[in-house]
Amino acid sequence: MWRMPRIKILLLLLFIFSCVCSSIRAAVSYDDKAIIINGRRRILMSGSIHYPRSTPEMWPGLIKKAKDGGLDVIQTYVFWNGHEPSPGKYNFEGRYDLVKFIKLIQEAGLYVNLRIGPYVCAEWNFGGFPVWLKYVPGMSFRTDNEPFKVAMERFTAKIVNMMKSEELFEPQGGPIILSQIENEYGPVEWDIGAPGKAYTKWAAQMANGLKTGVPWIMCKQEDAPDPMIDTCNGFYCEKFTPNKPYKPKMFTELWTGWFTEFGGPVPTRPVEDIAYAVARFIQNNGSFVNYYMYHGGTNFGRTAGGLFITTSYDYDAPIDEYGLLNEPKWGHLRDLHTAIKLIEPALVSAYPTVTYPGKNQEIHVFQAKSGGCAAFLSNFDPQVSAKITFGNSQYDLPPWSISILQDCKDEVFNTATVKAPSTQKKMTTVASFDWQSYDEEAPSSDDSDTFSMSGLYEQLNVTRDASDYLWYLTEIDISPNEEFLKNGQFPELTVMSAGHALHVFINNQLAGTVWGSLKNTKITFSQNVKLRAGVNKISMLSVSVGLANVGTHFENYNIGILGPITLKGLDDGTRDLTKQQWSYKVGLKGERLSLHTLDGSSSVEWLQGSFVAQKQPLTWYKTTFNAPKGDAPLALDMNGMGKGQIWVNGEGVGRYWPANKAHGNCDKCSYAGIYNENKCNQYCGEPSQRWYHVPRSWLRPTGNFLVIFEEWGGNPDWITLVQRTT
Ligand SMILES: *[C@@H]1O[C@H](CO)[C@@H](O)[C@H](O)[C@H]1NC(C)=O
Ligand SMILES: *[C@@H]1O[C@H](CO)[C@@H](O)[C@H](O)[C@H]1NC(C)=O
Repeated sequence: MWRMPRIKILLLLLFIFSCVCSSIRAAVSYDDKAIIINGRRRILMSGSIHYPRSTPEMWPGLIKKAKDGGLDVIQTYVFWNGHEPSPGKYNFEGRYDLVKFIKLIQEAGLYVNLRIGPYVCAEWNFGGFPVWLKYVPGMSFRTDNEPFKVAMERFTAKIVNMMKSEELFEPQGGPIILSQIENEYGPVEWDIGAPGKAYTKWAAQMANGLKTGVPWIMCKQEDAPDPMIDTCNGFYCEKFTPNKPYKPKMFTELWTGWFTEFGGPVPTRPVEDIAYAVARFIQNNGSFVNYYMYHGGTNFGRTAGGLFITTSYDYDAPIDEYGLLNEPKWGHLRDLHTAIKLIEPALVSAYPTVTYPGKNQEIHVFQAKSGGCAAFLSNFDPQVSAKITFGNSQYDLPPWSISILQDCKDEVFNTATVKAPSTQKKMTTVASFDWQSYDEEAPSSDDSDTFSMSGLYEQLNVTRDASDYLWYLTEIDISPNEEFLKNGQFPELTVMSAGHALHVFINNQLAGTVWGSLKNTKITFSQNVKLRAGVNKISMLSVSVGLANVGTHFENYNIGILGPITLKGLDDGTRDLTKQQWSYKVGLKGERLSLHTLDGSSSVEWLQGSFVAQKQPLTWYKTTFNAPKGDAPLALDMNGMGKGQIWVNGEGVGRYWPANKAHGNCDKCSYAGIYNENKCNQYCGEPSQRWYHVPRSWLRPTGNFLVIFEEWGGNPDWITLVQRTT
């Protein structure tokens, strides 16, 4: 009789066993209680970190801080316009190296929630859509439209296939446990009706057909078709219920703060209230919470969107824009996550029994059949603290707080009792600069690189967003007999623009500037202008400040001077300039010469020393500097400057606009009571954004090349390099 050697039997057993194991392992599913990974229901704590909002060199540190903060999952959008800058030409390099980002998360032992979208909103330029998509014939965005669906499916499949070929979905042994299709589409569908419904159905089917092996979510989508999970976004979501009794209750965006707009104050959200929102969600059957943002980061270059959004996307997140811990926010949430981990076995095995011991008080008890028990004691009163008797003990609860009890006995956490230490953040000057300047002159309509036509072009149609800038140029002839030349009552020029900012030059002199805001992007320039007898040059620089990120019909989205344009107060009344001959020039001369690069900058003569331009609009500045020692994060203090853009070693730091001061209400902030984004604002009366993050990894030890383009006129001598410490 042939006998199998013992070792072979062992190996065979091991093989069979590992097959069984991996078939259990190879599954992410869900039921009404939770997402189920490897056969286990999980209470998952997640945080948003958007890879292009930091640098690959920052990623490992951010992911480690997320893990140390007690997160299980990192959530990110996928940024279509970063990945496909022109049709079929893909970019997965540098800050857009999605696979690298996901693999780093995997190495850290965390999961990924991949929100493909590919519409992402996200205060990102054009909501993540490539601008070229607007010019595909027949295009209608986010609705039952063939060209749109073809493009969306192509990109979604591209990303899914890339993840599959890198074996990044959980059933393949990868970290991705969830994917998202579309984004907050429910309200849009409600608006547009039947074609919206058809599109939702199509999107769900299309996504499912891609067979990722992990569940798909659709956030803010009440009618998400099975098996898609509809999920909640907001400051609070405890009242949300998924659309089917067999789907888990998930909070895909718990807003940890809010974005900042140029002209607005800087929002913050107290961590006591964030912890309260988490506890309140979980005690009501919630099993997945994602912090939006956990690290907000920076809208580098021209990636900020949603109109007037600042370059900083700090979001008052637990990890600040610079990658430093935002304490006590990070630490208090870590303590919350530790508490939730302690009671996870009870949470996933029982429904809560709710009792009401007093006004504004609730007790939620999760009594598992296996014996585990967890309790949440709530005091919803925003002013008064409470004593709640439970079991054999009495518990003191501050106003607007929830206590978590392990074994239904030991208080392991109270949402309003912050034990984590606070830290002070400091910006310390480490260098100043020696500038050279170059004038960007207003062009003329007869310049060689302009083109003309009768009437006004829409800006995006002309620039295709290759630049923020479009020149509108024309000339007007003034008769020497005009009355105003004698009495000095100059005529009034009125220019209507769809946004976002406008500089008007008359005969090369800046006559005035107007700009809009997030709430009111349309602008009107209306001013008496100094004209002379003969030919007068009118040169208007129309400037975009990030493209819209919200809405549906992106195909109809317009910016720039759409008219009418009138000149009032001439002898024969009002002259309509709207339909006359206009010339156009895309971008700045300095952009065409690539003045932001060392090579490009050598093509022009720069002024030095006492000749360096001060308070002069349309000026380029350049300098070089050495990297300060150490590894503290760095920023440019742009106080004293007006509005423009910054580059370091050819990389776009972003749009700056410290001259746009924060209007709004910065009343004293209490954590208690319902939060909204207008509640705990800071920096009223000061620049909405003063400091601009320069990633360390962009710098060499010496000879770093810094370039600034200033639109309004400012004092460059005030600019300093600062170092951020806590
Ligand atoms: C939790 O879910 C169960 C099952 O769907 C439901 O009966 C119960 O009312 C829910 N409890 C809370 C507090 O939401
Ligand atoms: C867009 O530009 C093209 C020419 O490049 C022109 O024919 C068309 O009318 C423009 N559309 C708008 C809305 O300005």
